[in-house]
Amino acid sequence: MKEINIGLLGFGIVGTGVAKLLIDNREVIRSRLGADLNLKYVADIDTETDRGISLDDGVLIPDAHKVIDDPDIDIVVEMIGGQGIAKDLILKAIQNGKQVVTANKALLASQGNEIFRAAAEKGTDLAFEASTGGCMPIIKTLREALVGNHIASMIGILNGTCNYILSKITDEGMTFETALAEAQANGFAEADPTLDVEGFDTAHKLAILNTLAYGMEINLKDIYIEGISRIKPMDIEFAGQFGYKIKLLAIGKDRGDMVEARVHPTMIPSENILSNVNANLNAVAIFGDAVGDMLLSGYGAGRMPTASAVISDLTDIARNLLTGRAGRVPLLGCQPGNIRKIPVMPVDDISTHYYFRFSAADRPGVLSKISGILGENEISLKSVHQKGRKTSGAVPIVMLTHIAREADVKKALDEIERLEVVSDKPVLIRIEDENQED
Ligand code: HSE
Repeated sequence: MKEINIGLLGFGIVGTGVAKLLIDNREVIRSRLGADLNLKYVADIDTETDRGISLDDGVLIPDAHKVIDDPDIDIVVEMIGGQGIAKDLILKAIQNGKQVVTANKALLASQGNEIFRAAAEKGTDLAFEASTGGCMPIIKTLREALVGNHIASMIGILNGTCNYILSKITDEGMTFETALAEAQANGFAEADPTLDVEGFDTAHKLAILNTLAYGMEINLKDIYIEGISRIKPMDIEFAGQFGYKIKLLAIGKDRGDMVEARVHPTMIPSENILSNVNANLNAVAIFGDAVGDMLLSGYGAGRMPTASAVISDLTDIARNLLTGRAGRVPLLGCQPGNIRKIPVMPVDDISTHYYFRFSAADRPGVLSKISGILGENEISLKSVHQKGRKTSGAVPIVMLTHIAREADVKKALDEIERLEVVSDKPVLIRIEDENQED
């Protein structure tokens, strides 16, 4: 039986899962592939810690260069993460003619154009299913299954940590801090959890998905990013009263000669299928012109779900090697020469429904001052709710709008914030509600 030699770089959480699957599920993979995926090397600077996996003697080594320089290694799996050494190793592996698998979303989102160009020039495969959505086959779906569709929109929950935090606050009244600590203890938060809670990790993944869906160069810098750290339990409670849940969404939409690309906490109707994607699950709702609505969901993080995606990439590449067809499927779904610089629509130009919460004095005339400024800025109110009654101090005033333009909203909120009767920065949460027309 043919053997494909694998060199794994990084023996952390996901790297350990990859090794475990290659060993424990060797037979089933072999029977499907018709060849053996042989784990020849695992490189990690820490060769001492017991990870509960027994590797043959000489497999675990400290030197990653030994792996990428070994002529017998067919596929290099980069599981180191970060944007320093990982990038150098991937580029050197490509130069050495190796096929590469990576889960490194931050690296691909930030420097992917250069890396994919290098792989395309060299004619090697570079697979990255595990970079986005963990086990959920979103990359393969966009790149291959939906090849006959124009993708009108993709709306996704792409960060397990944020989804876990929001679900735990909503369903169990847990505090933000406790929920984040649990996400960290469960191993799905990033080493620096700011990447999760401030929306950057979700943006990395959206940058990758937009490229596959719209044939655009990877563009992280123009994605509008807002995380969940400003969301208060009070807003989650109000959302529930209006029939909404709050989710951190990645939103990609085809806008003709532009693409909408934004990441922010969003209110969505409780009956929306994404409202029921809870804890550390991920999901992406896609609308394609041929398929209509479709949904993918699964665990977006964690050792074994992410390792499952890596093995999927490994078998795809192994099949290409066995048939001499590396590069059979273009790495980013589109022929490299057809990938274009498509501009991202400035967030100020989007139009949507909004939830506002103001902390304002409970005095006659306050509401009319606030709604007057909104009216002057072309913002039409759908409903107004004052919560509680106080003779001194501030009360929350909550408003839902009809469709408004973001630039108008920002201008109005700036003016309202300067009112002497308003005490805190106004809270703005965008609403995605397909049942509301205007
Ligand atoms: N920190 C990420 C998450 C890991 O919470 O989803 C998977 O990319």
